[in-house]
Amino acid sequence: MLPKIASLKALAEAEQISTADSLETYRIKFLSKKGLLNELFDDFKNVPGAEKREVGKALNELKLFLEEKLQVARDSNIGDSANSLDENLDLTLPADVYAIGSRHPLSVVRGKISEIFERIGYTVADGPEIEDDWHNFSALNFPAEHPARDMQDTFFVENPSGDEPFVLRTHTSSVQVRMMETSKPPIRMIMPGRVYRNEAISARAHCFFHQTEGLYIDKAVSFADLKQTLLYFAKELFGNSVNIRLRPSYFPFTEPSFEVDVSCSICGAKGCNVCKYTGWLEILGCGMVDPNVLDNCGIDSKEYTGFAFGMGIERIAQLLYRVPDLRLYSENDLRFLNQFKAES
Ligand code: DAH
Repeated sequence: MLPKIASLKALAEAEQISTADSLETYRIKFLSKKGLLNELFDDFKNVPGAEKREVGKALNELKLFLEEKLQVARDSNIGDSANSLDENLDLTLPADVYAIGSRHPLSVVRGKISEIFERIGYTVADGPEIEDDWHNFSALNFPAEHPARDMQDTFFVENPSGDEPFVLRTHTSSVQVRMMETSKPPIRMIMPGRVYRNEAISARAHCFFHQTEGLYIDKAVSFADLKQTLLYFAKELFGNSVNIRLRPSYFPFTEPSFEVDVSCSICGAKGCNVCKYTGWLEILGCGMVDPNVLDNCGIDSKEYTGFAFGMGIERIAQLLYRVPDLRLYSENDLRFLNQFKAES
């Protein structure tokens, strides 16, 4: 029996395992149920009692040896097609293209707006989305009974200290207040960010959207500066041929206040369904900062004047890319998002 064991070991040692097929052949020949090892175990029954101990030990060692050889071959990934050299592999083929994402259209437009103002000396600033009443309303000259404070429009957030509740900022004008409180004129800033309003979600309204606020405070800033700045902005964004017009309006924090329209670049101001046949598209609100607001924020209104403006980023993106439904911006539909690859 011992010579049989030795010769089977020699046979296994000589076995070359280099392919998936030879690995399987080896396993079947030596280690399967009807393999050579099991044949020897069957013979073991006939070994005389006195020799059983020695033969049994040798058999077990052979078994370990055979199994280890199989495992070593397996570990070296023989038979794994990725590792074996396939003669048909065409190494000149171009590699698979990585599916890279693109920037969100709102980020693209926010970037475009900021860039236009950065070119004329504005810096970009940021503020918190959870605000207190002072920064969102009171400092901005909102009378206590102003409808914008109504539950209809504002999301309130419980204040853990039990004081007056916080709000989710309803506009980026709150960042104006923070900037005026913490910096000294001249202030020339652009403040993009997300805002929240308690509105039913539809194609034209959402409970969150984005705005960009602008603020310029210095000695002798005039209404002419405001108009010229906005004209420059409109031409940079929509093209040199657009015009703007200002319509008187009301905001608590500016006096006088205006809404600004640009001439419709889609129909060349001739009238189309986007501009509702008026030739004009509303893009932002603006005005001269109310002296009360300057004083509220620690800036001497006798020494300084300024202008402010605020626009909806979704609205600008809608006009630039003709997006028909506000909800598209937040649904993560790749068929929509992939269309902005070239803008990234
Ligand atoms: N905060 C206004 C809104 O959300 C937009 C706005 C209007 C901002 C006039 C301004 C401004 O800074 O001067 O509707």
